[in-house]
Amino acid sequence: MNKNILSGMRPTGPLHIGHLFGALSNWKRLQDEGYNCFYMIADYHALSTEYSSMSMVKNHVEEVAMDFISAGIDPEKSTIFVQSMIPEHAELHLIFSMIVPIPWLERNPVYKEQKKELAEKDINTYGFLGYPVLQAADILIYKAAYVPIGKDQLPHLELTREIAERFNYLYGETFPVPEALLTNTPRVPGTDNRKMSKSYGNAIFLKDSPDEIREKVSKMFTDPARIYRKDPGHPETCPVFDYHKLFNEPERAGEIKKECKNAFIGCRDCKKEIGEKLPEFLREIREKREELGRNRDLLWKILKSGTEKAGRTARKTMEETKNRMGIKYG
Ligand code: TRP
Ligand code: SF4
Repeated sequence: MNKNILSGMRPTGPLHIGHLFGALSNWKRLQDEGYNCFYMIADYHALSTEYSSMSMVKNHVEEVAMDFISAGIDPEKSTIFVQSMIPEHAELHLIFSMIVPIPWLERNPVYKEQKKELAEKDINTYGFLGYPVLQAADILIYKAAYVPIGKDQLPHLELTREIAERFNYLYGETFPVPEALLTNTPRVPGTDNRKMSKSYGNAIFLKDSPDEIREKVSKMFTDPARIYRKDPGHPETCPVFDYHKLFNEPERAGEIKKECKNAFIGCRDCKKEIGEKLPEFLREIREKREELGRNRDLLWKILKSGTEKAGRTARKTMEETKNRMGIKYG
């Protein structure tokens, strides 16, 4: 049975607790359940929107690699690698680009949305339109059967499936048609109760120090209807309560809920408790990360060895792909 898994993240900065619950904990579970996992740092994909500000890219690749490993992605069990270090991704992308009709890309809802959202960036490029074609190459070059992703990435996976089918139809059965693995993820709001995102300035990063976390938590948005200490609160609409559910003991979170509703606890004390629990929750990750941060040689050794391993599979698939197409000379 094909138990290959591929997923990736763009290196646009350090990862936050939204990534931890939204992706990394899932990736770790799949790894521990014995899937053959490839986890990629998609630096070429970052290029599609960041091409004019590449000075930080190496630093971001390192940050993301440290986040992966310290969050429990084990390089002994999973293959961690950097996309641009395996040229076959680009080669397969080129081949796919020849067989993908442009309308498939133009009707992609992610493309339409991002073009509107990133209007101030000049992303009217060939590469940006072809973003999902590269993503299809990432997935299919490892013949992944499953792709753990968030809902926002579903249109891209659908395109991958269509590209696999089109290739198979044109040149013969070569690629499995991969399936998305969507898992329920808890709500992890940003400190301002919007979606957690680096660009909103509302994120708590895995690498944040306990002091930084306490500071961020102390400024968190709470229930806007609770103006005075004596006002009863509505924990279900308060991001601090979401954090209690994630980082406090379940019984204690239950107590907080009642105490908030009855105005027995004030918001300041309520946040203070999270300011203690959250750094404790992240302690192991933070310590591992600090250790890796001091040892960049080890970090690159891990990435190079992952790249070697992934590269072997990628080269094999590429050779098979070209053979199927009749690109075999000499
Ligand atoms: N597009 C994905 C994102 O922005 C990152 C990514 C690149 C990816 N290649 C992939 C995810 C392949 C899954 C599979 O999150
Ligand atoms: Fe939110 Fe806690 Fe204040 Fe209730 S007491 S509104 S849960 S911060």
